Amino acid sequence: MQKIHVDLDKDSYDIHIEHNCLTQVGNLIKEVYKGEKVFIITDRNVDEIYGAILEENLRDNGFEFEKYVLVPGEKSKSFSTYEDICDCLSEAGITRSDMIIAFGGGVVGDIGGFAAATFLRGVDFVQIPTTLLAQVDSSVGGKVAINLKSGKNLVGNFYQPKMVVIDPNLLKTLSDKTFNDGMAEVIKYGCIRDQKMFAELEKCYGRQDVMDNIEGYIYTCCGIKSIVVANDEKEKGERMLLNFGHTLGHGIEKYFNYEGYTHGEAVAIGMVRITEVSERLGYTGSGTAERLKILLNNLKINYCFPEMDKENFDKTIMLDKKAASGNMSIILLKDIGKAEIVKIKRVDIKNYY
Ligand SMILES: NC(=O)c1ccc[n+]([C@@H]2O[C@H](COP(=O)([O-])OP(=O)(O)OC[C@H]3O[C@@H](n4cnc5c(N)ncnc54)[C@H](O)[C@@H]3O)[C@@H](O)[C@H]2O)c1
Ligand SMILES: [Zn+2]
Repeated sequence: MQKIHVDLDKDSYDIHIEHNCLTQVGNLIKEVYKGEKVFIITDRNVDEIYGAILEENLRDNGFEFEKYVLVPGEKSKSFSTYEDICDCLSEAGITRSDMIIAFGGGVVGDIGGFAAATFLRGVDFVQIPTTLLAQVDSSVGGKVAINLKSGKNLVGNFYQPKMVVIDPNLLKTLSDKTFNDGMAEVIKYGCIRDQKMFAELEKCYGRQDVMDNIEGYIYTCCGIKSIVVANDEKEKGERMLLNFGHTLGHGIEKYFNYEGYTHGEAVAIGMVRITEVSERLGYTGSGTAERLKILLNNLKINYCFPEMDKENFDKTIMLDKKAASGNMSIILLKDIGKAEIVKIKRVDIKNYY
């Protein structure tokens, strides 16, 4: 069992990473929760494959539980599902001394975490992430949110879990598309902070090669994220490094109405394009974009910049909520493993793609 401590004073917590640890989850939860009543929030796919294992383990450890199963997919990160979850929490008689478990991918983690953050002004929760993206990114750091019609993650909070339990075995049942989505984020961590992991990934020629050392990669990514989050919980500085490739990526996702490209695909495209440009501008060491492209190619992750109407795309990018008025921060690589935050005028972003 590998353990990472996320150091946030009274909101500190541990991340447990181990193959098959879903079968020990009840025991682990007892480290942070002395009560008996838990409420599981999950989605239908995860519930069908893994629900019984979780429930049996909770039962064996003396927990009583109720659960809410949502329809898989981004559309569920909505106000109406949120309201429904809160009604069910209320009907189940959940109090502030009970525990919520968010058991699923980023969608479940985000909406489950947001329900935990707000129901009765806050109920403790544990994250059991089941996608690669959730295991290396969304379950750590406490960002919880739901979407509005006008944009993603516009209503949310910073609300840290009491514990994160990561079982890499669960990744075996992911589709290649969902696996690759998470891989784009893994590669991002290598780009911004860990040239050693990047070099190890360069020896991988597909999903199975990655899976051979997946526990190590997850450990490295969560380690990087936990340090960055501990230094900058509310994303005023260093945490912005995690947005490498994301300004363009979010723009691409939005331009295609969140239907053309998944988050990871869009981030991969964004990382390549901004690195090609910054290399041309002399900011990034030469050959960096090429290394990134070869790695993405080996792992069968697309990075082709899509055909878009330039003017419309410019508008989409400028409206990104992460762009502070007047100026904005972009993340550029000096080299693989070394990222920096660079402030530019908002209007100059169009020179970076
Ligand atoms: N909070 C954060 O810091 C943060 C960071 C990045 C992304 N996000 C959010 O995460 C969400 C995307 O998360 P995601 O990519 O995990 O998507 P997701 O939760 O929709 O999961 C993708 C698909 O995989 C299925 N699935 C999940 N686990 C499975 C398993 N073990 N085996 C088989 N199928 C499984 C799900 O049912 C779903 O169909 C977005 O809403 C995004 O905004 C949040
Ligand atoms: Zn991301």
